Amino acid sequence: MNNRTSMSGRKSATAFAPASVANVAVGFDLLGFAVDVAGDTAHVEVTDDGEISIGKISGLITSLPKDPEKNTATAGLIKFKKDLGLKNGFRVSIEKGIPLGSGLGGSAASSVASLFAANSLLSEPLENAELLQYALIGEHAASGSYHADNIAPALYGGMTLATLSNNTPGAPSVTVNQLPVPTKLWCVLLHSQIEIETKTARGILKKEIPFSAHLQQSAHLASFMVALFDENYSLLKASAKDLIVEPQRRHLIPSFDAIQAAALTNDAICCTISGAGPTIFAWAKSESDAKTIEAAMMQVTRSMNLKAQSWSLKIPCAGARPV
Ligand code: HSE
Repeated sequence: MNNRTSMSGRKSATAFAPASVANVAVGFDLLGFAVDVAGDTAHVEVTDDGEISIGKISGLITSLPKDPEKNTATAGLIKFKKDLGLKNGFRVSIEKGIPLGSGLGGSAASSVASLFAANSLLSEPLENAELLQYALIGEHAASGSYHADNIAPALYGGMTLATLSNNTPGAPSVTVNQLPVPTKLWCVLLHSQIEIETKTARGILKKEIPFSAHLQQSAHLASFMVALFDENYSLLKASAKDLIVEPQRRHLIPSFDAIQAAALTNDAICCTISGAGPTIFAWAKSESDAKTIEAAMMQVTRSMNLKAQSWSLKIPCAGARPV
């Protein structure tokens, strides 16, 4: 990845990267899918000072780190510029459309959007597979850990399996496989307006799990993958269960049990935590099922006086794109 490209001559570019649902019940740190009901937009300008810097921060959040090493939108760009031997700098302005600590992949979206925009300013832009390695650095700056289950769908769109190989200490490399999305699938998202830090939600997880739980969860993951490829909705329903992480995190989300029960009694295929939460997602087999499930979930939040917003959307959704 060294010195093989230069700037195209364009002075600025803007890109949007969508929100995403990570883990998807059975694939902790592995599976994710794009949901473009929200997203982050990055505007990247080429500068002559050779620096990576942060410009305006606008939208839902304005108090983000101004240190480029610590900001998810710029941390990956620093290595991108260095590896490519670029003399110019980049000034990145971010418009946050994804709430902080929402479980909707906000840090991933910012990281992906800024890299996508900067990449489009090169004479020979990198392929997505390479770009993703830099987005991982941005994700790490935000959450303190390397996981690609939000950045992969934010970049590629659709549903992805993102695996890391740890053969390079401190900088694992990511491999992405795109997964099929059964044609009838609709997704319901319910975002309770509280903030859960990914770092905190990861910090409470036990480092060891019983062998029996590993066996059961492996069976669920394997069956889930078969169900996706075979478009088998009953197998999807039987397998989309998180026996390991959800039980350890559900207490962080107000009324999780009641919201999940409302979705499942209204024929949801599955209902669990999106990423580290507090957003909860459910899958449905049709638009009308999705609307019924969404109404039932929102009814719980209203009865508990929780502030929440919800969406029903058809999946798959596209990934990062120019604006
Ligand atoms: N897989 C991650 C987690 C996603 O659940 O901690 C959060 O960004």
